[in-house]
Amino acid sequence: MTQPTDTPKTDAASELAAWAADFEAPLAAMIEPGPDVPPTLAEAMRYAVQGGGKRVRAYLVTRVCELCGGSTDDALSAAVAIECVHAFSLVHDDLPAMDDDDLRRGRPTCHKVFGEAMAILAGDGLLALAFEILAERMSDPRTSRSAVLELARGTGWAGMVGGQVRDIEGEGETVELARVEAIHRSKTARLLEAAARLGAICADADDERLKAASVFGHELGRAFQIADDLLDVIGDAAVVGKAVAKDAEIGKQTYPAAVGLEESRRAADEAARRATAALETFGPEADDLRRLVEFVVKRDR
Ligand code: IPE
Ligand code: IPE
Ligand code: MG
Ligand code: MG
Ligand code: MG
Repeated sequence: MTQPTDTPKTDAASELAAWAADFEAPLAAMIEPGPDVPPTLAEAMRYAVQGGGKRVRAYLVTRVCELCGGSTDDALSAAVAIECVHAFSLVHDDLPAMDDDDLRRGRPTCHKVFGEAMAILAGDGLLALAFEILAERMSDPRTSRSAVLELARGTGWAGMVGGQVRDIEGEGETVELARVEAIHRSKTARLLEAAARLGAICADADDERLKAASVFGHELGRAFQIADDLLDVIGDAAVVGKAVAKDAEIGKQTYPAAVGLEESRRAADEAARRATAALETFGPEADDLRRLVEFVVKRDR
């Protein structure tokens, strides 16, 4: 893995940023509050989900769906749903009871702006909204059911939430690679895997493509979290948009703490290699996802 500071903005970074800019309008349309929503809650939820974010998960949903020949409308709904879950995970992750962070995406965290009670409730609201979107907007009830199941599994007790529990329980304990791996797979990789699988589900893809999407998303997610751990050590807070050098202070189970920087970079590259290998079945059409894999391990934010 190249030192982030030596890395110029890759093509994938600009490609993703351009896509993310176009995603803002459909996103805004799907998180428009109805008359029964308390305005402060709507404001806190929209603050958490809008105004930044690389939109990697949303991009995965729509691109995998397109590669499998599926409907863009369903994929966009699933993309908004997973960004709602992701934003919820970040709002709760930043709370004083969890990682206690003041800065996210270069702005004050949700609880710093709206208070802790409202941030907890905004997270709750975003989680419910994600499933409301999947249940309400999918063109076909079968797709809707599969998408709900997929997102629930990626999010819940065996997915992101379970991983967050492992992460919190591991604080201050002896760092072990096997433990770090279990944390990374559940708190991060499982949701990126769900993103890729949602794309395949929206396209009603065959088993071969669904399996390829699973492996691709999961290995990309592992690379993504190793890179996140590395950014906490060597990243620039002004660029990353969140505090750095906190994981060691809190005593988190991270890749660099377990095996050091060099070995962590090697592990990120190996996960990236596996992610790329899983794309083979999609052919040259998936070249942007190959570039995305490279971006994920070389990113500086
Ligand atoms: C941050 O995710 C939390 C992790 C799982 C590492 P991102 O790095 O995708 O956050 P945004 O959405 O781009 O801000
Ligand atoms: C990401 O782990 C966990 C989530 C599932 C939100 P981190 O706690 O390392 O994420 P950052 O570094 O705060 O974005
Ligand atoms: Mg955390
Ligand atoms: Mg955190
Ligand atoms: Mg981190």
